Order: sequence, then C-alpha cells, then structure tokens
Amino acid sequence: MPILTSPLSAALGLEVSGVDLARASGDQLDAIHRAWEQSGLIIFRGQRLTNEELLAFSRRFGELDPPPVQENGRMSPAGYPDIYVVSNVRDEKGEPIGALGAGEAVWHTDMSYLETPPDASILYALEIPPHGGNTWFCGMQAACAALPADLRAAIAGRRIKHDGTYNSGGYLRQGVTPDDDPQRAPGAWHPAICRHPATGAAVLFLGRRRNSFIEGLDRAASEALLDRLWAHATGPDFTYEHRWQVGDLVMWDNRATMHRRDPFDPAARRVMHRTQIRGTRHPVAFPAA
Ligand code: OGA
Ligand code: MN
Repeated sequence: MPILTSPLSAALGLEVSGVDLARASGDQLDAIHRAWEQSGLIIFRGQRLTNEELLAFSRRFGELDPPPVQENGRMSPAGYPDIYVVSNVRDEKGEPIGALGAGEAVWHTDMSYLETPPDASILYALEIPPHGGNTWFCGMQAACAALPADLRAAIAGRRIKHDGTYNSGGYLRQGVTPDDDPQRAPGAWHPAICRHPATGAAVLFLGRRRNSFIEGLDRAASEALLDRLWAHATGPDFTYEHRWQVGDLVMWDNRATMHRRDPFDPAARRVMHRTQIRGTRHPVAFPAA
C-alpha cells in the first residue's frame, strides 16, 4: 500500500497516513524516509507502538544515540536505554520519570552543542494533557530562503556558537558549570548557513539562543544580530504548531528544523517516548555565491 501525504504548513511538514508503523513494508519505509528528508517533519496519527516497535521503526533510519544528559540525568524506561522519556510525571518515590518538566521548552535544535548533532528525533505520545504542551516546529530551509539580504550578508561565511550549558527547559545539564559567557561555555561552532546533506538546500542553523554567539563580532553586535535572526526564523511564515493526540508519532529532521514546547498544567500528565538517530556528518557550510 502506498503511503498518503498531505502538507501541514507552507514552510514544512507532511502528515503521513495509511500506514501502521509496527507493520510498515520496506517500500513504505523508503517513502517515509524521503518524505522526512524533503519536508523536515512528518507526523503519523493513531499509532500503537510497544517500546520494541518504536525502537525497530527508529533503527530503520540509522544508529540510535543514547539520550542526552538533561537536568535529571538520562531518563529511560527500565530496560530500554535507547528510549528517552520526556515527561513531568513523578514516580511513587516522588522522583521525575522524565525530562523537561511542565514548563516551556524554548526554541532549539536537539543537541546542536555537539560537533555532530543527531540527524533526527522521534517523539511518540503516550499521555497528553487536556490543554497546552503543544510542540512548535520551524522550517529553517524556508527561513533561510526568505532571509532579508542584509541579514544574509551579515552572517555570510560566519559560524555560530551553540551552547551546551543549559537545556531547552532552561535547566543546567547535569555535571556542567553554570556560565553565561558564550566564548567560554561548552558547546560547538557551526556554520550559520549549512548545506543540507540530503537535499543540498541552504538551511539557517541557529540551534539555541541562550549563550549563542556569532563569530567575529563583539558581544553587543552579536546579540543584536541574533535577535533579528531569531525573530525572522521563528515568525509565523515558517512555523507549524502540533496539537498532540495519544498515538501521534512525530519525526523531525534535526538538520532542517527547530522546535519548542508550550508549557502545560503541572498537575496534568504528559508522557512521551523519544528516540534519536545519530548524526552521520558534521554540519558543513553552504557554499557562498
Ligand atoms: C524533545 C523536545 C518537546 C516536547 O524531545 O527533544 O524538545 O514537546 N520535546 O516534549
Ligand atoms: Mn528537543
């Protein structure tokens, strides 16, 4: 059976239907792979996956990465070290079962503070609060194509520092010293405009705002330019808002998108299982014209 796709927004994303991910054929998985690469974000509704099935689907796209170290360390369900729990729920001892709490998670690319960030992340919804907790995505290829000429010129040939101190929930990563000097804080430098390895397209690569820094500028000029770049990239023309239902599986191209999450009522429960596909190459600069 061929898969069916329909666009989620002007800038990015496809909803894929007609497939049970626990039983997808090789042809369907190839088509899913292409849809993911071309659109930056794919969503599937109404899935019912065990942890094994989530892992088996994820492994079709590459090697899995262990979960990132978050404010509570690495959070996995018992026996599944390659699955990472995103949740505000606490167990019977009062310990958090997952990462990111119930607050806002600010715009970010996953683990862009590494030299080779993951290629993809997959988030699967097990429990969803009645309100809030929507996840937003923005398409960095569309944002790049629409960059005003002066902004494009200001970042041409430059690299940006991606901070590894704080996670998107604003929490300090376990084992890291707090530091708000972007030159000194741990992280990685990546080209501001990268060439997407699969599509060849130019993509703006901002990663995370806090402790970010544009190479070759002084701090004030870097802050001012970053503010303009972030306002541009996260504007309504380039974003899609995902309203979750239990059984949704969302897979994003981490090289071509950023995401953020709305806060939700801490008394409500939200439980997501997540896998991550290991990056295969360093981000490389899009050749200047
Ligand atoms: C993630 C993430 C946001 C969410 O899993 O990388 O940022 O909506 N999650 O839970
Ligand atoms: Mn994330």
